[in-house]
Amino acid sequence: MEKVSLDHLSNGFCPQALFLYGTYKEDGTQNFGLFCWVSYFFDGELGVMACIGGEKLTKDRIKAGHVFSANLVTESLLPLADYLGNNDGYEPGKMDVPIEVESGAVLDVPVLKDSPWVFELEVKQSVSLDGSEIFLCKIRNVLAAKALTDESISAEERMRYAAPVVTAGIQRYFTLNPDVKGAWGDWKEN
Ligand SMILES: Cc1cc2nc3c(=O)[nH]c(=O)nc-3n(C[C@H](O)[C@H](O)[C@H](O)COP(=O)(O)O)c2cc1C
Repeated sequence: MEKVSLDHLSNGFCPQALFLYGTYKEDGTQNFGLFCWVSYFFDGELGVMACIGGEKLTKDRIKAGHVFSANLVTESLLPLADYLGNNDGYEPGKMDVPIEVESGAVLDVPVLKDSPWVFELEVKQSVSLDGSEIFLCKIRNVLAAKALTDESISAEERMRYAAPVVTAGIQRYFTLNPDVKGAWGDWKEN
């Protein structure tokens, strides 16, 4: 494959799942923002790391309460997610949109009713960088749609049910075509 060195740093075609982070504002109402710089780490158990750049209401609220929810964005949640990712939480009225929210099962965090996979997260450590902050979080609970836990349904069908949306540095949203290509280890014998 012929390759070229880019003249700028980019993660153009490197997919990332989208999550809506839910926090409570000072007045007790909920706020949600859209995030894709999310990944995982291991520290005795699975953890979530989240990078938030600049000054954001979501960041302020995470720093104030040390907890938030990360709600997987689905195809049907995408219009709401895009709205929440392009409107500033500091602006009054951002959350004046129809949105079905319930409470976390373990933490005091707002959870999106229609997200099929929700992490309830507690920040354990944070790393301040030049222009952003990384939050290393303990997963205090995973709320999963019941259908996703039904192992009599194929992985492919369950992924189709979850219908996650991914994005990449080229700033477009993509759906997944859940076509299972194999399982981990299928090629280990080479
Ligand atoms: C597709 C998409 C992905 C985003 N991912 C991130 C991210 O990972 N980190 C970040 O700091 N901001 C990210 N943003 C920007 C925030 O969603 C945006 O600043 C939003 O206003 C945050 O909500 P808040 O102002 O209510 O905190 C993303 C925006 C979009 C549209």
